[in-house]
Amino acid sequence: MSRTPSLRVAVLGAGTVGWPVIRAFLERPEKLAPFDGVPLTLAGVADTFMDRVIARGVPAAIVTDAPAHLVADPDVDVVVELMGGVEPARTLIAAALGAGKRVVTANKHVVAHHGAALEATAREHGGTFRFEAAVGGGIPILGPLAADLAANEVHQVRGIVNGTTNFILTSMREQGSAYADALAEAQSRGYAEANPRGDVEGDDAVNKVVILARLAFGAWLAPVDVRTAPPTLRGVGRPGVTGVTADEVAAAGALGLALKLIALAEIGADGRPAASVLPSAVERDSPLGRTDWVLNRIEVMADPVGTVAFTGPGAGGDATSSAVLGDLVTLARGGGSTWAGLAPASEASPGTDGADPLAVPRAWFAFVPGVVPEQVDLGPEAAVAAVQGGTAVRTGTLSLEQVRTALLTVAADGMDVTLYPVVE
Ligand code: HSE
Repeated sequence: MSRTPSLRVAVLGAGTVGWPVIRAFLERPEKLAPFDGVPLTLAGVADTFMDRVIARGVPAAIVTDAPAHLVADPDVDVVVELMGGVEPARTLIAAALGAGKRVVTANKHVVAHHGAALEATAREHGGTFRFEAAVGGGIPILGPLAADLAANEVHQVRGIVNGTTNFILTSMREQGSAYADALAEAQSRGYAEANPRGDVEGDDAVNKVVILARLAFGAWLAPVDVRTAPPTLRGVGRPGVTGVTADEVAAAGALGLALKLIALAEIGADGRPAASVLPSAVERDSPLGRTDWVLNRIEVMADPVGTVAFTGPGAGGDATSSAVLGDLVTLARGGGSTWAGLAPASEASPGTDGADPLAVPRAWFAFVPGVVPEQVDLGPEAAVAAVQGGTAVRTGTLSLEQVRTALLTVAADGMDVTLYPVVE
């Protein structure tokens, strides 16, 4: 019996993102039948909690707790991996691509850490791999970067790409929340990863900047080479936002600055791509400074377009499901991989892509405890403000060595202070 042409979709994982995707099949099937494509139909759902999925309205006949069976099923055309984690997600994605299937995922860890191998597998076996949901939650950024901006020379991609940490920093600033309380709220809203350590230490943003760099610069950077810890007066600080204190958040505010976790990828002085994810200071009254709570913002600087920006909800199941469903509709319309149209990626050679983005002179922000502004002499370009417990400092353009030398003369013996790059 011939069946109406359609793309038969299996969803692996019915959790924070998976359930809104499945719900769209149940409640809005007309949105999954593009006018110029074939309809998408739900052919299988794999989840550990089968009873819960069935109770929510998925026909029992298509529910399983064995995702590998769906991947191997010749009647499944599209595998949507929303289980998260590394394994078995990576193996299942690789198997599906190796079988020439279409795969959609939101799994930024797997894409960032295994992207080079998965891309090679997909290209070799005719598989199609889409992962718009892996960066920026519901924001369409990878598609525009790979397609609409394809005729540009991209110089830099930067922005706020982790909703959990942006929520925490905004809550500390706006409501004086304690770090732990703000994190707990971000978790309860479904923004954080199952293990939020990856959010707060910057690894989630590293994964995203690696994926952005692949599409902007044509190379898979090694996540381990992306710096996440800011410099301090005497060494290296704690990664991501884990070292940010309430005093520093308040001190930044006194100078019209806001602290944000900024991911940045660019072509370095040596002509090779480099990336960083660093807690940084931005002008409060700037587009990045006004990007608060769960919002993400990604800015692309390129020739000939200039600067374009993408903003929207960067986390949360419903928002992220929008990107997954968009990828599915693209497949139903005959679209290819997220990198379609771009040359095969190179793998950046170890050691070259870790070029220190802080090697270039720049402005710095620091909160120096136990010091009054009169003690701090950083020249006419600097701004200082007295704040509770110390002095807020914004330097002019200085090398890391220069700012350390200047502040070491006033900091108490043995005291360490985080040096936040100012992103302008
Ligand atoms: N944990 C991630 C975030 C989810 O907070 O941004 C979206 O990738």
